[in-house]
Amino acid sequence: MNKTVIGVLASGRGSNLQAIVDAIEAGRLNAKIGAVISDNPNANVLTRMADTDIPTICIDRRQFSSRQEFEAAVAEELNIHHVELVVLAGFMRILTAYFIDRFGGRIMNIHPALLPSFPGENAQQQALDYGAKVSGCTVHFVDEGMDSGPIILQEAVPILEDDTADTLSERILHAEHILYPRALALYCEGRLKLEGRRVRII
Ligand code: GAR
Repeated sequence: MNKTVIGVLASGRGSNLQAIVDAIEAGRLNAKIGAVISDNPNANVLTRMADTDIPTICIDRRQFSSRQEFEAAVAEELNIHHVELVVLAGFMRILTAYFIDRFGGRIMNIHPALLPSFPGENAQQQALDYGAKVSGCTVHFVDEGMDSGPIILQEAVPILEDDTADTLSERILHAEHILYPRALALYCEGRLKLEGRRVRII
């Protein structure tokens, strides 16, 4: 079966990207990373990929006068690298309808909470502040809302009595590293079927 070409957008540390690279190398994910794009010139994710042959591109948001111009540059780079699926891995920008229309149904995100609870920033702290006993992570398709697209996979992570945002984030991150490659593998195997808001695994 042909490898699906994925393009990863990331703003920071890049541990989810690393988990995806590891899953490909281990043969658990039939994909090829066509490009890694960061909007942040100081992102660790850029140095993390330095020893690989994966094209790594920085598109600095500050060099564009509008969101649409920035997104057009990102989309152009993804197209140059023949990207079929856009994977957001710690990408800290909200994409506009302009970008989502161009890659409609072909953008995935991972969020560190059990959506629809605790969307947006600082999801782990939100779960602690709310007093939830369970949180986790969600892989979903991206739509125009904030973390509101159809849910593909979720994994629950218990919240412990003495958890801080850091300890909870670390345990959730561990679950993310397993969940994201698994969701991507389902996509690459053609096993995700969207019916309304529901993603059926076939
Ligand atoms: C991950 O916890 C991811 O779920 C979160 O940022 C972190 C990125 O870590 N994403 C969001 O909060 C998106 N709203 P990483 O750079 O090590 O993969």
